[in-house]
Amino acid sequence: MTSAIIINGGIGKQSRLMGIQHKVERHFETKHISFNTIHVQDLPAEDLINANFTSESILQAIQLVEDAHIVVVLTPVYKASFTGVLKTFLDLLPQKALQDKKVIPLALGGSLGHLLAIEYALKPILSVLGATEILNTVYVVDKQIERLDNGTFLIEREIEVRLEEVLQQIDPLEVSLSQK
Ligand SMILES: Cc1cc2nc3c(=O)[nH]c(=O)nc-3n(C[C@H](O)[C@H](O)[C@H](O)COP(=O)(O)O)c2cc1C
Repeated sequence: MTSAIIINGGIGKQSRLMGIQHKVERHFETKHISFNTIHVQDLPAEDLINANFTSESILQAIQLVEDAHIVVVLTPVYKASFTGVLKTFLDLLPQKALQDKKVIPLALGGSLGHLLAIEYALKPILSVLGATEILNTVYVVDKQIERLDNGTFLIEREIEVRLEEVLQQIDPLEVSLSQK
């Protein structure tokens, strides 16, 4: 059983959202929290679009979510909301898939104009999926992350600190008990 699942609803491995994903992964590694990452875009597109509940790949991804104690949801802001790609996967999760889990939504937008997209667009869906413990969130503006020539990402110090604060909300003791 893993302790955490990262659901990345972004498009492309070059996206600065990957910088946030790497930061979360490093945090889990440092804290010895076992985790898996689902990049929704890597799941079979036909299965997502056709809501194929019997797809082996989809079932495996759902199992990873069900097994996790912590769920980190990463999304870019597209058209004032989270991505359609992410929605295709959330649609396939069982009714109360996020019940009794700690959920951390993190968003990356092009401007501060859609700062509240997590609140009005994503959180209601997470609640419908049974999430009652949605931890503090971080909204990052894309210019606060730089994509470097070597394929890594440089995150502004202020954002690094805020991401770290949010991730620190996870109690390592509780996580270790959930791994038993
Ligand atoms: C189709 C599309 C729609 C977008 N809509 C918004 C939006 O409504 N609000 C916003 O703040 N940023 C919007 N953006 C900007 C992205 O959220 C932001 O630039 C992206 O997350 C940065 O990722 P990147 O590194 O892949 O460019 C949009 C980007 C695309 C491609």
